[in-house]
Amino acid sequence: MAFGLSSIFVITIFAISLTNLAPVSLVLARKPCRFHAIFNFGDSNSDTGGLSAAFGQAPPPNGFSYFGGPAGRYTDGRLLIDFIAESLGLPYLSAFLDSVGTNFSHGANFATAGSTIRPQNTTLQQSGFSPISLNVQFYEFNDFHARTQVVRKRGGVFEILMPKKEHFSNALYTFDIGQNDLTAGYFSNMSTDEVKAYVPDVLNQFQTIIQYIYNQGGRYFWIHNTGPVGCLPYVMERIPVLAGQIDDYGCASPFNEVAQFFNRGLKKIVEQLRKNLPHAAITYVDVYSVKYSLISQGSKHGFKHPLRTCCGHGGKYNYNKNLGCGAKVNKHGKEVLVGAPCKDPWTYVNWDGVHFTEAANKYIFERIVNGSLSDPPTALNMACYRN
Ligand SMILES: *[C@@H]1O[C@H](CO)[C@@H](O)[C@H](O)[C@H]1NC(C)=O
Ligand SMILES: *[C@@H]1O[C@H](CO)[C@@H](O)[C@H](O)[C@H]1NC(C)=O
Ligand SMILES: *[C@@H]1O[C@H](CO)[C@@H](O)[C@H](O)[C@H]1NC(C)=O
Ligand SMILES: *[C@@H]1O[C@H](CO)[C@@H](O)[C@H](O)[C@H]1NC(C)=O
Repeated sequence: MAFGLSSIFVITIFAISLTNLAPVSLVLARKPCRFHAIFNFGDSNSDTGGLSAAFGQAPPPNGFSYFGGPAGRYTDGRLLIDFIAESLGLPYLSAFLDSVGTNFSHGANFATAGSTIRPQNTTLQQSGFSPISLNVQFYEFNDFHARTQVVRKRGGVFEILMPKKEHFSNALYTFDIGQNDLTAGYFSNMSTDEVKAYVPDVLNQFQTIIQYIYNQGGRYFWIHNTGPVGCLPYVMERIPVLAGQIDDYGCASPFNEVAQFFNRGLKKIVEQLRKNLPHAAITYVDVYSVKYSLISQGSKHGFKHPLRTCCGHGGKYNYNKNLGCGAKVNKHGKEVLVGAPCKDPWTYVNWDGVHFTEAANKYIFERIVNGSLSDPPTALNMACYRN
């Protein structure tokens, strides 16, 4: 079976190279990029321990499928950023905010769960949004960039655990942020029109940060667009929509339309940045499409539950915002886990009502890694080339 498939593959390549000699040899002449580091910015979709370090560890059963216990991630195992690191031959990213056992020799992660692009005028306590918005992540990066170079001069373990100067210019800078900027408006009772009205401001602030990183020597950018938030139980439960606004797959259309509105704007920003930053290679990755197709077509790939969460408690989606994944209640003087995980997380797309399962993340990664959903269609290991 496997042998048969691979011979079909060889024949296909041969056929293409006969009809299309020049482009194929041009592509083959390019060596895969060697990124020595990854610097990541984002929210819970790529948080590998930032929020956990500052505000308390993501509770069990987070991390149980892969890490054997809590690992600073809001999922049962690995995130997209973990698969990206693995695929580039780099270790998993330590969170910048984590001061215990971290190793920044090959990058750092500035993402925290609940982060937005724009600073919010509320506290984590009040609204659940992280105070580490993208501008703060940049302040941290800026300081990290300068101070690691001073600290390395102390030698020994300091030299080993901090990135080399040149790693900042040959690093891949990855971004997955924006989803929380959209939900922030809805959660403060704004209408779809009101949310749309502030999206340009959000995108402007995003553009500024990319520009700043470029000014510090960053050259290679890998930017995920935002996912179909209207398919996530925490949004559907909190903000009911009219029956006519539910699509064929059970997702709430208004929120997905706003996400796509944001994504169209993001794509324009990326085009503008390519003009403004002559030495930058910027890849825009359409994560939205993969996530939406996983929810709508996932059953063909073994995902039996597109919307229902694996880890939660009660309700239509096995999701209760007051008793989330890992929540315990006191019954007759005993602590009982009610936010318990399912037995077969690989058949679920959604982990806890907000985040994807490791199985879903792996599925998504496998579909974005070769660049077929990116603009330009650049594979991850070719993302250092400016088209
Ligand atoms: C830090 O990570 C690098 C890259 O994986 C590894 O070579 C090095 O041994 C690590 N250092 C320590 C002290 O863990
Ligand atoms: C927070 O308040 C400032 C000052 O009024 C305003 O400019 C900014 O847009 C507000 N941010 C958000 C996310 O609403
Ligand atoms: C939004 O509206 C609901 C219902 O009217 C109200 O309970 C809640 O306090 C409002 N939230 C905000 C942030 O204004
Ligand atoms: C990229 O991978 C997907 C499946 O993972 C496949 O369907 C697609 O044909 C691939 N595209 C290219 C250009 O190799």
